[in-house]
Amino acid sequence: MMFKVTIINGNPSLTSRLSAIIGLTEEILKKENIEVHHVNVAELPPEDLIHTKFESEAIVKANALVAQADAVIIASPVYKASYTGVLKTFIDLIPQKGLAGKVILPLFIGGSLAHLLSIDYSLKPVLAALGARHILGGVYAVDNQVARTEAGGFDIAEDLRIRLEDNAAELIKETRLRVENNQLPKGLA
Ligand SMILES: Cc1cc2nc3c(=O)[nH]c(=O)nc-3n(C[C@H](O)[C@H](O)[C@H](O)COP(=O)(O)O)c2cc1C
Repeated sequence: MMFKVTIINGNPSLTSRLSAIIGLTEEILKKENIEVHHVNVAELPPEDLIHTKFESEAIVKANALVAQADAVIIASPVYKASYTGVLKTFIDLIPQKGLAGKVILPLFIGGSLAHLLSIDYSLKPVLAALGARHILGGVYAVDNQVARTEAGGFDIAEDLRIRLEDNAAELIKETRLRVENNQLPKGLA
């Protein structure tokens, strides 16, 4: 069954380790013929983000990608024990219940494990406020699990790779179930 995933990347840098993590996750999803779209917050007009311009064409387009998605992956590096301010500038522009009915998978990377709970304590309450009720545990990676190679690429540690595969599989399973349920006649779902 076809469904759509939108990946929101809240990293100010689009060439960091997080991009490698997003890339691998996307690869896994595409193997299952899942349609993947991207909202890279760093590529949206900074003025529109800083001034919370709901009517901006770029923001309206990005919000359409979120609205049409059955599942949303929210990716961010850990900054100051939380997700980035860059990500929050976009989250503030998502409509009030804009994540209702969607399966959500958080993907975080931090310099150390010290802020492992930032997914639970800083991101999840915000997602819940936006109507998300099906938030998966998510993956918290640390920098030393994603090594930069001499060729300019990244090498993802085996244990992280397995966690990403498991979480992607869970996202696929949960989203399929929900999409199938929504197609049942009313009363049966
Ligand atoms: C402004 C800033 C604040 C950061 N704060 C934290 C933090 O509180 N906790 C943490 O584990 N890592 C923190 N980090 C580290 C980043 O989360 C981590 O190193 C990032 O994934 C590395 O990105 P890179 O691949 O571009 O090097 C911070 C990094 C920056 C730039």
